[in-house]
Amino acid sequence: MVKKVIVVLCLLALISCETNIDFRENVASFLIPKPLELTQTEGFTSISINTKIVTTQDFIDEANYLQKLIHESSNFSVDIIVTNEIPITENAILLVNNSKLAANLNSEESYKLTISKSKIEIEGSTTTGIMRGIQTLRQLFVDEFHKNIKRNEWQLPLITVKDSPKFRHRGMLFDSGRHFFEVDVVKKYIDLLALYKMNVFHWHLTEDQGWRIAIEKYPKLTEIGAFRKQKDSSIYGGFYTKKQVQEIVAYATERHITVIPEIELPGHSLAALAAYPELSCTGNTVEVTNEWGIFKDIYCAGNEQTFIFLEDVLTEVMELFPSEYIHIGGDEAPKLRWEACAKCQKRIKDEKLANEHELQSYFIQRIEKFLHKNNRKLIGWDEILEGGLSPTATVQSWRGVKGGIVAANNNQFAIMSPTTHCYFDYGIGTTDLEKVYNFNPIPAELAPEKHQYIIGSECNLWSERIPDEENLDSKVFPRIFAMSEVLWSYPKEKYFNEFYARVQNQYGLLEAKNVKYGLEFVPVSLKSTLNDDKVQIEVVTKHESFKTNYRWNCEDCDTIFREAPAIIALNKSGVLEIETFKNGKKYGDNLLQGYQLHKAINSEIKQENLYNDVYKASGEKGLVDGEIGSKKIRDGNWQGFLGVDIDCVIDLGKEKEVTEIGANFLHKQLSWILIPRNITIQTSVDGLTWKDWGTVESKVDPKNKEVILETLSKIKSVEKIRYVKLFAENLDQLPEWHDFYKGKSWIFIDEIFVN
Ligand code: ACM
Ligand code: ZN
Repeated sequence: MVKKVIVVLCLLALISCETNIDFRENVASFLIPKPLELTQTEGFTSISINTKIVTTQDFIDEANYLQKLIHESSNFSVDIIVTNEIPITENAILLVNNSKLAANLNSEESYKLTISKSKIEIEGSTTTGIMRGIQTLRQLFVDEFHKNIKRNEWQLPLITVKDSPKFRHRGMLFDSGRHFFEVDVVKKYIDLLALYKMNVFHWHLTEDQGWRIAIEKYPKLTEIGAFRKQKDSSIYGGFYTKKQVQEIVAYATERHITVIPEIELPGHSLAALAAYPELSCTGNTVEVTNEWGIFKDIYCAGNEQTFIFLEDVLTEVMELFPSEYIHIGGDEAPKLRWEACAKCQKRIKDEKLANEHELQSYFIQRIEKFLHKNNRKLIGWDEILEGGLSPTATVQSWRGVKGGIVAANNNQFAIMSPTTHCYFDYGIGTTDLEKVYNFNPIPAELAPEKHQYIIGSECNLWSERIPDEENLDSKVFPRIFAMSEVLWSYPKEKYFNEFYARVQNQYGLLEAKNVKYGLEFVPVSLKSTLNDDKVQIEVVTKHESFKTNYRWNCEDCDTIFREAPAIIALNKSGVLEIETFKNGKKYGDNLLQGYQLHKAINSEIKQENLYNDVYKASGEKGLVDGEIGSKKIRDGNWQGFLGVDIDCVIDLGKEKEVTEIGANFLHKQLSWILIPRNITIQTSVDGLTWKDWGTVESKVDPKNKEVILETLSKIKSVEKIRYVKLFAENLDQLPEWHDFYKGKSWIFIDEIFVN
């Protein structure tokens, strides 16, 4: 019995004494964004029940936050001592007002964090500076801390950090419109933003697909506007009550994150018009849409009721959001309805406006005046430049950086969110970690004295293709690390490998917080070499840690994955499939690339009209490279022709016996991509006299909303030919039935083949 008691006592002693030493040995490799200055000395200090938070009254909110943070992961709670004179104390976390810090480091978010054996000190000249310092401290804990494993003691490395951000606007756009996210998910993201020193949560709350914020004066906005009927007739939707919005804003405020609400106008407003059709130009009933795209029904600019409604809505919005800025959208508003509306036309005449673009400008400026009356400022997407920019608006540049440059050159503030680097709803194939890391919010062509007008940047998470939290996690992480690094640290010289190593050290923390992060890059790419009429493929891995296998899916091929040889020589058409592993774990979906071998591969091709620079496939020989496109328009295999015909001549190099000539097209009318109604093919032996080979009609209904692949080809009895001419007419303007009537239409083609 005595023995048993002794054993139990010893065990208890072991548990309570927990003397494992467990702290970040190499702090520099664990911090994102990288701090301005960091030094680490040997050793560690501990936080335990004996620790106190000592603060002046100024920082009591931040002290409470820190106390909660520690308590969530500990078997103990640290006391807070509020005092006017911060004493020299051992075993304390001191929150100290250092009034010079903001001035010295050029930002009210600057902070200094010093961890010594005897105490931890966070200095800031503002509450925000203190909060940023706390978040750095938070990143110094080992991963288990973030799992909320309750320990009796946490160890922290001895360091000094002096830190300050480059940009003052470091944001993420969160789209609750297309898909609805519960309050917990919204809070999770606000917390993660804080952890990585982002400071703006741009909350997109109204869309064609759903109105998400309760407005007392207009209850139908949420009764009708917050719900849509899906294809299977089920109802999808949701909205945030005022109480929930207040809770979210308070949660963000606690972390010194500004929530900027976006209330879209005059476009992207179908959900509001479904609730209040009298606010549209036609007054006709519309439904909250279940489709993605741009829709022609928008708020009527000639109807006074529209402005009364929007001012009422904005009044309630401003009551909920204390932010200096209100975002009013302003993007993608087709002018079709305005052109045909007597009230809108009367407004144009009465206000002596030149056209519908100036009417949009009138609309925005009228809303801006209302915001100013309420001591708020306006942000809008770069379309607000069209028809004349209000001189006090801040422009969020998304169609490249041009809009931001125009604003900055006009001494107006700009936020850079170009699709090229900041659209995290795009796949990793378009915007990978390295590309975001290489983003510079300040365009090279902007004169130095104008740099001050670029206040920062946002990554945009449009949620058309983000149906749930897991998908959101995978789109945000790890790319937001690069955004945070660019916006806070703004490295003068970029060393991707050093940054990449730090990213690897964040995954433990993300796993602890149950964040389902996604890929860093498409792990492999295929480099094809065209030789005579053969295709040879080299499998190139994006990082040395990636290992790949391949298999060749074709008729009579075996289905076993094998280690890829240096060069894969293709001898028949089929689909090459690559699987990748990182640290022994499967990394992403398998890469599938189709190849079509035919007699025109690697032929000379002359194109009368050039393909668009964004959709150029492999370039000059993109239509005769054997690479076949998928239903993903950005898979790198499609050549896109915007508003111009395809008119090209292929030289096979010598006469060849031919029985079939054709081409593959993609249809996606919601992205303005239409298959030509027909193609005409001519052939020649000498390149001077041409013979009709045939005309082939498309069978795809242009109005079909699905994504469709279609091959148009003509088979004939064998002929000897050398030259092939293919012509496909572009509609130029989108037809009247299309939601973007009169917009330019695309043709997408991946290959012209000759058999
Ligand atoms: C946008 O992506 N339409 C701002
Ligand atoms: Zn109208």
